[in-house]
This record gives sequence, structure tokens and C-alpha cells, in this order.
Amino acid sequence: MSESTQAEKWQNPLRSRKDRRLPRIAGPSGMVIFGVTGDLAKRKLLPAVYDLASRGLLPAGFTLVGFGRRAWSKEDFENYVKEQVLRGARTDFDEHVWRRLAEGMQFVQGAFDDDQAFDNMAALLKEMDATRGTAGNWAFYLSVPPEYFAHVVDQLDRTGMAHGTEEQWRRVIIEKPFGHNLESAKELNKTISAVFPERAVFRIDHYLGKETVQNILAMRFANQMFEPIWSSRYVDHVQITMAEDIGLGGRAGYYDGIGAARDVIQNHLIQLLALVAMDEPVSFSPRQLRYEKLKILRATTPIGPFEETTARGQYTAGWQGSEKVVGLREEEGFDPNSTTETYAACTLGINSRRWAGVPFYLRTGKRLGRRVTEIALVFKKAPHQPFDPGLTSQLGANTLVIRVQPDEGILLRFGSKVPGSTMEVRDVNMDFSYTEAFTEESPEAYERLILDALLDETGLFPTSAEVERSWEILDPILDFWAEHGRPDEYAAGTWGPPSADHMMAASGRAWRRP
Ligand code: BG6
Repeated sequence: MSESTQAEKWQNPLRSRKDRRLPRIAGPSGMVIFGVTGDLAKRKLLPAVYDLASRGLLPAGFTLVGFGRRAWSKEDFENYVKEQVLRGARTDFDEHVWRRLAEGMQFVQGAFDDDQAFDNMAALLKEMDATRGTAGNWAFYLSVPPEYFAHVVDQLDRTGMAHGTEEQWRRVIIEKPFGHNLESAKELNKTISAVFPERAVFRIDHYLGKETVQNILAMRFANQMFEPIWSSRYVDHVQITMAEDIGLGGRAGYYDGIGAARDVIQNHLIQLLALVAMDEPVSFSPRQLRYEKLKILRATTPIGPFEETTARGQYTAGWQGSEKVVGLREEEGFDPNSTTETYAACTLGINSRRWAGVPFYLRTGKRLGRRVTEIALVFKKAPHQPFDPGLTSQLGANTLVIRVQPDEGILLRFGSKVPGSTMEVRDVNMDFSYTEAFTEESPEAYERLILDALLDETGLFPTSAEVERSWEILDPILDFWAEHGRPDEYAAGTWGPPSADHMMAASGRAWRRP
């Protein structure tokens, strides 16, 4: 027995069990953020770094380096980060935690084609390794538009910053969009893999960092009662919905020309489908998890004919609650003739013994009735009803709903006898709610993902093969839409264009009203 297993053996078993529940602390390291003045860094990344620090999960000498065009001093950068932390952090602001984190902040001024700026950065990282104990371990977070990926990656290569060794790791964290179709995704993967080995590439799909999304696997594989009914034998169809009430004001630069399918279905919704549909991995190791996800994605295909099985729309002016809002083409920065869809729905099928014949309906949209992300497994009706049909007219299909957000939880909808002297049966809900069941607060997705990247935990990051397969699934639909005119219209505050309802009605089904 090796020394460490010997030591583990003699540990107090209660203590070691408890230890496993505590999150691991990242080892000596630092992180460089490109695009540090962008929207994502402001709203999510910088607050998440602070939250990790305040939870004690960053190493003592953790160093955060910002890169940008502004002529900022270290102090300017610190002030900027502090502003974002005060506005967006989940945990309380603690002056002591802040001071420790701020000591390790540095800013490098420059543009992506500025060799001198990257030389300065390389020198700075060396200095930090010597003075702050970052030990040559660096994560490079590319929170920049994809057209700059190649520039940054080439600069990291040229200056040697990208090249890790046995003792010193170098990792790159990249944000979507990973291309706009299969071909460009392959191109992008080629650019990155020319410099970073695949195991050093961490592609962010922030949905995988959400607690409720990880719980899909716990629910399915830690329990006995769900798996036996998790197949075409009992499931009629699955609906995966990500609805948002926000509009696209201020996001034209990113969104116009991209649209809802590329923005959300290609990544978040197809990943949710993979987690819901995949087989049990032989272990919970990243390798096995990714293997099973890719296997199910390889069996997933779009179902046509697309004029009947897909829908897309663009929001027009309407009411969001009591607020009057403008349509997409009036939003600041959008082309007044924009054909970008803000609503997308499609039908996918899975060619496997478990799922053959079960449609997976995916939909997403902006300016819909309310913000909700959920996965609903709608079950087949019982083959026989011994009750008077007049007394079961209000009985719907049994449904299991995984509520990803908000009101995180799981809901089971089934028929129950209405109190009284007849055998009337009506739908009722059995509801599990995270906030009621747990006192622990859920970390933000970005806290989890940044920590995992620093810890080299790869399980929650999609591989290049998964990304490419997702495009392969979506591309035929995007091509069809490109050849078939404009998206339909829907008024802001409604649940999408009429074509979305027709698409479901064509198969004798209807969207759930979440
Ligand atoms: C992003 C999309 O990936 O997810 C945005 O680009 C969307 O358009 C966002 O608003 C939603 O994230 P969340 O975590 O608020 O559901």
C-alpha cells in the first residue's frame, strides 16, 4: 500500500467523508482575462472570481491579470473590478478578502495585434511567478469575439505563454460562440489545437455549471425509481424550454446575424438534451461522462420536414408585464431589416433502442411570457382508464418537470382523486424545491466553472467533438431557414409565433405553458 493510501486508511472516517464534501482549493495559479471590460467579465467573471476568493477557494497568491486597450494603472483596474464586485458578487463584500485579492491584480494595456503588449504580459507573468508564487500555472480566459481568438492564441504561442511543461500548466478557457456552423467550428478548433492540446482547452457552456443541470445526473443515476421509466416505453415526448423575458437592446453587436438557434440551441439546449438522454456512464469521471454524452449526440438527428417540425420568429413591439417594449428591428444597433430570429424551435430524434420514436422538442426565445428554463418529460397516457370518461376529462399526461431556473426544483404532475363522492380525477403537482430542501446556497455557474478550470476538472466542459456534433445536428435546420425567407413575427410578452404552436399541433401535441 502506498504511503498516501496508508495515511487515508488511518484517517477518522467521519472526517474524511466530510472532507470530500468540501470543495477543493485551487493550487498556485493565476488567470489572465482578455475582454475584461466586456459585458460578460463585468456581470459574471469578475464577481465570480471575488466569490471564489471569499469562499477561500483561491490560492494565497492568486493573481488576476486584465488585458485591454484602456490606459489603466493597477489602481484603475482595481477600482474597476471593485465596482463590478460590489454590483454583482453573490457573497458579502469583505474588505480583508478584497484587499488580498486586489494585491494580486495587474493590468496590461494593448491591442490583440500589439506584439509589445504581449511581450510585456509574458514578462509580467514571469515576475508574478517569482514574486507571488503563481508557479508558472496560468489560465487564459478568452472572453472576446471569436474573430479575435486566432490573434490571441497566436500571440500566446509566439511569446511562449501558451506552452506548459510537466510542472507548469497553461490552459485556455473559451466562450461561445464556437463558430457559426460546422465548418467554422472545425476551423476554430484547428486554430486552437495548433497551440493548445485538447486537454488544456476549457470550452465554457455556462449551463453545465448550474446546480440544477448537474442534478439531472444525480437524479437519474443516484436513484432507482426514475431510470426504469426513462425510455420510449413510457415517455411520449420531451420538451426542453429556455424562455427569457429580456429583449436584445444593447446586444446587437453580438446577436444580429447570430440568432436564437446559434446562441442557445447549439450549446445550452443540446447539452441539456445530452444529459437527459444519455446512458449511465460507467463512472463519474470526465472521460466517461464525455464519452456517453458524445455517444448520445452521435445518435441525435434533426427530424423533418422542417416546414412542419421547426419554427422561428422575431419579436415585435408589445407588452412585457406593464412595460411597453419595442420590437427587435427598433432595438438600438439592429438592422431595421434584420432577419435574425429571436425565437427558435426544432424537433430532434434519437436513434437508439431507448429513445426511438420519442421526439425531443427544443425551444428558446427572447421577450417571451416569462423567464424559465425547464425540461419536461411528458409520459404516455395509461393504456386503459377504468373510470367514467366524464370524470377524467381534466386528467392530462403525467409529466416530470426539471426546473432549471428560476424556482429551481423538480415537479411531478399526475392525476389524483378530487375529494368528494365521485371518482373524479384531476391533475395535481408534487413539488421539490431547492430553496425549501437545502439551506446551502447554490454557487453561480461561473464560480464552479472557473474553479474547475483551475483545478483541471474537465467534466463540465464540452469537447471539440461535442461542439462539432452539435453543429452537425443544427446545420441542416439553419440551412433550411436561410433559404426560406424571414422569420415569423410574435408580439413581445407572448409565447412565440403561431408557427410554433402549429409545429406541435401537427404531431398532435402542445407546448407546456411553464
Ligand atoms: C447566454 C446567451 O449564453 O445565455 C444569452 O448568449 C442568454 O443570450 C444567456 O441571455 C442566458 O443565461 P442564463 O444563465 O441567464 O439563463
